[in-house]
Amino acid sequence: MSAGYGAADVVHRISLDVAEGEIAVVLGANGAGKTTTLRAISGVLARSGVVQFDGRPMPTRPEDTVRVGLSMVPQGRGTLTELTVLENLLVGAAVRPRHEADADVEKWCGFFPVLGERREQKAGSLSGGEQQMLAIARALMARPRLVLLDEPSLGLAPIVVQRVFAALADINATDGTSMLIVEQNADLALRLARSAHVLEAGRLVASGAAADFLDDDRVRSAYLGGR
Ligand SMILES: Nc1ncnc2c1ncn2[C@@H]1O[C@H](COP(=O)(O)OP(=O)(O)O)[C@@H](O)[C@H]1O
Ligand SMILES: [Mg+2]
Repeated sequence: MSAGYGAADVVHRISLDVAEGEIAVVLGANGAGKTTTLRAISGVLARSGVVQFDGRPMPTRPEDTVRVGLSMVPQGRGTLTELTVLENLLVGAAVRPRHEADADVEKWCGFFPVLGERREQKAGSLSGGEQQMLAIARALMARPRLVLLDEPSLGLAPIVVQRVFAALADINATDGTSMLIVEQNADLALRLARSAHVLEAGRLVASGAAADFLDDDRVRSAYLGGR
């Protein structure tokens, strides 16, 4: 798949797989093309080449990708700050019958108690970490089989990042939801993920098991700045 803006591609012929039920991570510096990649997969941005989901071509319009089971947590969270927590959650379930949505509101308000406690408050009054949890819960309200997450750690304190990543691990383990996460926080993401890819200036330069990236000093120093 390739994608870009106007005539110029910024992501060049990248190829990656997310196996059913797995967490895959795409690492890369600022400007590497991580957001462009996710937006092209979800249909927000035009792409060329092949994207398949369950062996079928991935639809090219965002509303259709949601219907086939893809959900996105955008960079910067995309919280609708003037709406309440509850209203934000219901937006995520727009494609689903109301009674199912109500049941899932209870499910995610139970999983993230802070959302339950604040369900009538405007989303803009939540802290950054709470808004990230809301963005994740909102994406899950569509009952996706694959969630794309764009830098879920961005702008959050380390302790809050730990909590968010623990929640993702828990959701993956419990519901089997597949995840494709793009991150600059390499160490944390590699501990969460099973497979990993490194994007550099719009090209995939390494792919493999996440554990190998963590263990391999040579790979770490080449792609992760030796962290
Ligand atoms: N709306 C846009 N129009 C033109 N170029 C863009 C746009 N958004 C991003 N770019 C360019 O595409 C490249 C990749 O950006 P992006 O996918 O946002 O990177 P990342 O998410 O890895 O930080 C960058 O060079 C960036 O300047
Ligand atoms: Mg980005």
